[in-house]
Amino acid sequence: MAQNKESSTMKAGLNPVKVVVVGTGSVGSTTAYTLLLSGMVAEIVLIDINKDKADGEGMDLNHAAPMTTDCRVYVGDYPDCANAAIVIITGGANQKPGQTRMDLAAKNAKIMQEIIPNIVKNAPDTILLLATNPVDVLTSISYKLSGFPASRVIGSGTLLDSARLRYNLSKYYNISSESIGAFIIGEHGDSELPVWSLASIAGMRLRDYCEKSNQKFDQDALEKIFEKTRSAAYDIIKRKGYTAYGIAAGLVRIVETILKNEGSLLTVSTVGDYFGVKQVALSVPTKVDRTGAHHIVGLSLDDNEIEEVKKSGQNIKSVCSRLGF
Ligand code: 2OP
Repeated sequence: MAQNKESSTMKAGLNPVKVVVVGTGSVGSTTAYTLLLSGMVAEIVLIDINKDKADGEGMDLNHAAPMTTDCRVYVGDYPDCANAAIVIITGGANQKPGQTRMDLAAKNAKIMQEIIPNIVKNAPDTILLLATNPVDVLTSISYKLSGFPASRVIGSGTLLDSARLRYNLSKYYNISSESIGAFIIGEHGDSELPVWSLASIAGMRLRDYCEKSNQKFDQDALEKIFEKTRSAAYDIIKRKGYTAYGIAAGLVRIVETILKNEGSLLTVSTVGDYFGVKQVALSVPTKVDRTGAHHIVGLSLDDNEIEEVKKSGQNIKSVCSRLGF
């Protein structure tokens, strides 16, 4: 009988790590599967108001475990959040074709008012990791609902958008996305902003890279690449009805830098003061380690970029206050 491969935490003799996934829709179930395959956790708890769905996902996931890692997946309820290292929140309505993320704000804010207090009651020391959209609005609201320090209320933010931008640039320049430094800041949504002034390849700004590699620097082409990045979710949802793989990979990347205490700088969304807009969740490069997310670096943006980020923040704040937060 083939022995189950121990998950890395078991092998390493670390405490068995438990992660909870609230919501077993396309994002939650794909995230749970990605987490199972990663071997980083010993237990995954699935929570969903639709118990049948959660049970079905749990059964299916457990059948993968004997061929991958010995991660234990079970369906639970909020008391099972106790001692969870991280609680990933994916529950709520997702965008339908033609809908914006902000269109979901009122409905999903109500759902957060159900979910967050139940998690906090059972796991007062956990890290909340939100993916439900509009993620910046819901990260701001969950920060207030939870009473947690801002470092322990993390939204997936523009991590996925930054990955999409690096992917699109890697196709354009015909090099690996690993060799491209580029990120999107602000809102995970229509007002997001590429920071071209800090984009780099092999440590060179894009314009210098083009000069040194004898190719034309074309700002219009870059703007088209940004448009394609910003509209990616709409383009996917129009075709398959939802997105899941990209956001699931992003959530597991955040789990990884927390559990391994990496301290990676990721464009996740956390509540802070951004260029004068106070106490709002936006994405900037943020250090993420086992204690959560920390702003350690200011961004040198030009005046236009600062104005755009401020507009992003003010828009999110106004949606939060319209919802009573
Ligand atoms: C995405 O960008 C829908 O926010 C989700 O894929």
